[in-house]
Amino acid sequence: MKLYAISDLHLSDAVNRRALEGVAEHPDDWIVLAGDTGEKEAHLDWALSILTHRFRQVVWVPGNHDLWTLPSDREGLRGEAKYRRLVTICLRQDLVQLPRIPRFSIWCGTRQTERWHVRFSASVLVYGHLHVRGTRFRDGVRFEEVSLGLSPWNWSQEDGIRPYLREILPGKAVDRPDRNE
Ligand SMILES: [Fe+2]
Repeated sequence: MKLYAISDLHLSDAVNRRALEGVAEHPDDWIVLAGDTGEKEAHLDWALSILTHRFRQVVWVPGNHDLWTLPSDREGLRGEAKYRRLVTICLRQDLVQLPRIPRFSIWCGTRQTERWHVRFSASVLVYGHLHVRGTRFRDGVRFEEVSLGLSPWNWSQEDGIRPYLREILPGKAVDRPDRNE
């Protein structure tokens, strides 16, 4: 079993929707959808309808785009009501609801959380949002930025989505020079 992660699918983009449709089957593996799946409930619903059939288990984390309600969406839910609707969509598709314990919680990147990877003995820290993929080490902990982003600026369509699914665990052997400390 492997644990994969990807974020920033931004499914309002048709190119990204086509890419997600091409994701291979991983019947033994889990995947973390690490934020910014889209701006609409339908984006999350659609992503899960694909990924729950291609992976053994999907773990969803909301990003800022997921929680936004576009100004044009006058009838759309807002704020906490939208979040709760998204959780309902996840539960309908058999996602696991995790208890509020730090190692499975949203780390929003404030000064209050900047030492949590040490405090909670994290093995790997997964994040997105930047659209700047990379592997970095800090205090000996692996930090994985796993965003897809928008093509052609952030990713190339030529090889499909496969190269952008980041293996988190057990994880590829990576050089650990800590040059990004
Ligand atoms: Fe994004």
